Amino acid sequence: MRAIRWAQGQVELLDQTKLPHESVWETFTSADEVAAAIRDMKVRGAPAIGAAAAFGLAAEACRLQGDPQLREKLHAAATRLRSARPTAVNLAQALDAMLAVLEQTADDAIADALYAKAVAIADADVATNRRIGAFGADVIAQHGGRILTHCNTGSLATVEYGTALGVIRALHERGILDHVYVDETRPYLQGARLTAYELAEEGIPFDIITDSTAGYAMAQGWVDAVVVGADRIARNGDTANKIGTYTLAVLAQYHGIPFYVAAPTTTLDLATSTGRDIPIEERHANEVTHIFGRPIAPNGASARHLAFDVTPGELITGIITEWGVAKPPYIESLTEIAKRDCR
Ligand code: MRU
Repeated sequence: MRAIRWAQGQVELLDQTKLPHESVWETFTSADEVAAAIRDMKVRGAPAIGAAAAFGLAAEACRLQGDPQLREKLHAAATRLRSARPTAVNLAQALDAMLAVLEQTADDAIADALYAKAVAIADADVATNRRIGAFGADVIAQHGGRILTHCNTGSLATVEYGTALGVIRALHERGILDHVYVDETRPYLQGARLTAYELAEEGIPFDIITDSTAGYAMAQGWVDAVVVGADRIARNGDTANKIGTYTLAVLAQYHGIPFYVAAPTTTLDLATSTGRDIPIEERHANEVTHIFGRPIAPNGASARHLAFDVTPGELITGIITEWGVAKPPYIESLTEIAKRDCR
């Protein structure tokens, strides 16, 4: 399953706001169109928005070919893409990699070079996820086959396969997965709509639970391990991920259940020392007071929609990357793992 397709000069995205009941592909041919799709969550998930932004910038280069101000305009477009969503560092990381190619390329070769780099970013993500899946299955297998996960970290959130959901897929491929508990993930319902859709497609056994059921599920002994994704991991292991992740980590600690984060090294932000410095996106309150455009709260009710929270590294049992599983103290293990990444 893929939700991103590409050709030179355009990127096609499967509109994730309409899944699972409608599969609508949209074609985008400029950076601003892609930035809007990222902001509106037609494409979402940290690695997926990085890849989409890379293709958005490549499409912009194609659209502006021959423009005497091509370089300046591409830098400005990259800035607009970068600001589409603030928390996932993959977005900035992918754009930095694209701008590095821009700097090294002669004017008449820019469109081709940026397209080639976007394809390379997308292909690398697929290979990376397979490696995360394999390392993750090795480490999770020792705890058991009943997994709780949050949000959507699968093919839809990446280019293909997924991070935490890639680990779940790998456990299933090895025949050692028993069951997945899928947090519905209020308010966007990435779990109920998207993770459930991916698991159903694969024939992986699962139950959707409301987010507030997780504690009871753990207390009942239904969960062997929690595996989630990440949007940005600070140098000390503090991890920003979908709102509700922190709650799960606290619950897991209380119940003595291992809590793993699965993420590519493109999600590491070693320049950020702790989670306190990670920018947390706050989205429109309407996304809490309304469901699919229909009000569920009194008219004019005030609400807060923090899209992410930060889980302290000390609550995380291990961080599964494409280079292996980092263990505490993260300040050392993540620095070592980042050295292996020869981006
Ligand atoms: O707001 P979203 O849907 O973009 O949030 C997605 C998440 O929080 C995922 O867990 C994270 O991006 C990892 S995706 C492999």
